[in-house]
Amino acid sequence: MKGLEQYRERHKASLEGGGAARLEAQHRKGKLSARERLEILLDAGSFEEMGSMVTHRCTDFGLDKDLILGDGVVTGLGKINGMTVAVFSQDFTVLGGSLSETHAEKIVKLMDLALRIGVPLIGLNDSGGARIQEGVTSLAGYADIFYRNVKASGLIPQISVIMGPCAGGAVYSPAMTDWIFMVEKTSYMFVTGPNVVKTVTHEEVSSEDLGGAHTHATRSGIAHFTYPNEGECLMAVRQLMAYLPPNCAEPPRSGHGWSEPGPGDLRPALDLVVPDSSNTPYDMHQVVQGLLDNDSWMEVQPEFAENILIGFGRMSGQTVGVVANQPMVLAGVLDNNASKKAARFVRFCDAFRIPLLVLVDVPGFLPGTDQEWNGIITNGAKLLYAFAEATVPRVTLITRKAYGGAYDVMNSKHIGADFNFAWPCAEIAVMGPKGAAEIIFKSEIASSNNPEETLNQKVNEYTEKFASPYIAASRGFIDEVILPSESRKRILRAFAHLQSKAYVPSPRKHGNIPL
Ligand code: HXC
Repeated sequence: MKGLEQYRERHKASLEGGGAARLEAQHRKGKLSARERLEILLDAGSFEEMGSMVTHRCTDFGLDKDLILGDGVVTGLGKINGMTVAVFSQDFTVLGGSLSETHAEKIVKLMDLALRIGVPLIGLNDSGGARIQEGVTSLAGYADIFYRNVKASGLIPQISVIMGPCAGGAVYSPAMTDWIFMVEKTSYMFVTGPNVVKTVTHEEVSSEDLGGAHTHATRSGIAHFTYPNEGECLMAVRQLMAYLPPNCAEPPRSGHGWSEPGPGDLRPALDLVVPDSSNTPYDMHQVVQGLLDNDSWMEVQPEFAENILIGFGRMSGQTVGVVANQPMVLAGVLDNNASKKAARFVRFCDAFRIPLLVLVDVPGFLPGTDQEWNGIITNGAKLLYAFAEATVPRVTLITRKAYGGAYDVMNSKHIGADFNFAWPCAEIAVMGPKGAAEIIFKSEIASSNNPEETLNQKVNEYTEKFASPYIAASRGFIDEVILPSESRKRILRAFAHLQSKAYVPSPRKHGNIPL
């Protein structure tokens, strides 16, 4: 056939990327090639490539002599668990995966297609940044991508997997996507690298400490998921995708509808989780695991702001987003990081029709200058705003404390939750009974012959009069006080009833969340 020889030659060149020596160097660093990564990420044989014959237009610095097919990024459509996704995978063996005008055009074309057909976008990032030989055209390419990240936000899920360098302005594309995955030791993200940091602030810091996976998982909270190697990381992306819908107009494809709860949904072990003393911590993971389908919990940002848990799970096979205070860490208090972490998660779930399950054991907001000076007013308001704005089915269960403003914030009835449950041991009040008694009965306690006994008496009195869940239930702020063992059953039933919840579009352009 005419043209066969040329086809074979070009096809081979496009598959080879930067050549054997550079591929070997990539492997030596513990990194895979762009195509090897796609093989792990996508269902076998599902990848349909687009743009393998694209070449760059740079005529400077000798690049015009090289025929670089594909221009350092592999783009196309594939499937994950049978669901179509749009994916780009940067090839570090071709000019360091650097982003040229045409490299950007390939990504932009893919993003436009993903939006047209309503499928998630996944970017495997491994790039030295803007192609130095090109100048402003590569900067323009970045801006074209940023613009589409914003246009696509809330319409299709966007996932960034950082598998090498991601520095300078390039970090802002992942930052605007919904989920960031990083690989330990071989990936890093920062706006300015260690050399610039040293020049400007005289700090000496390694790439790993400045912007490695551990740093972003524990200190900045920028990475939602981190894994020790690329294989595990890509398998985790597949796992996450199983919870998500393809776009905001369709429900997640997991499960086959909410089923009626049966005897197997009773969970007697939950009766034993909360200790008798309200100051003794317990691990909220036990409650989360007890309520969700077995082995269905995928925690997000597990090492950041550990005083709040967020993540995906399933109930009768359906995806739910879970937000839960964690009494094991800082007594489950809300602080700046916890509020920001949970707020963004709530907004993702709301954008993609994922029902919210909120578990509450919160003693209030964390006091202190550090918190105030770092904006706990605005940050706490983010979470309040996110819940109040959410139109997906919302169920709350108060397992123990719900004190002060944090009671209102944590998906209370007053800000639009649909079902609000509490366990019999719940304490719902302006503040903890001891603190409250010490203030309002101050003089009585001070003038008593036995102040300690009087304080205990007053604590009991306050608990009964103000902090009991039955007070809140008598006002309809709690819909039902339920037994821990029956909670899964009751929540399942609530979600089943709520699935017809309709979203009524508002005439306003958009609200003004306290960012
Ligand atoms: C063109 C690049 C490149 C780039 C790397 N290469 N970065 N080519 N443009 N930005 C090429 C190298 O010349 C080399 O080619 C190959 O990729 C591998 O690079 P090495 O340096 O050998 O690899 P390594 O030692 O692993 O170091 C990786 C690196 C380093 C840390 C990323 O290459 C580096 O510092 N690159 C420059 C990073 C940078 O300053 N980028 C511009 C940032 S500004 P050969 O042929 O030898 O294999 C920016 C602005 C974005 O990105 C703004 C958006 C708004």
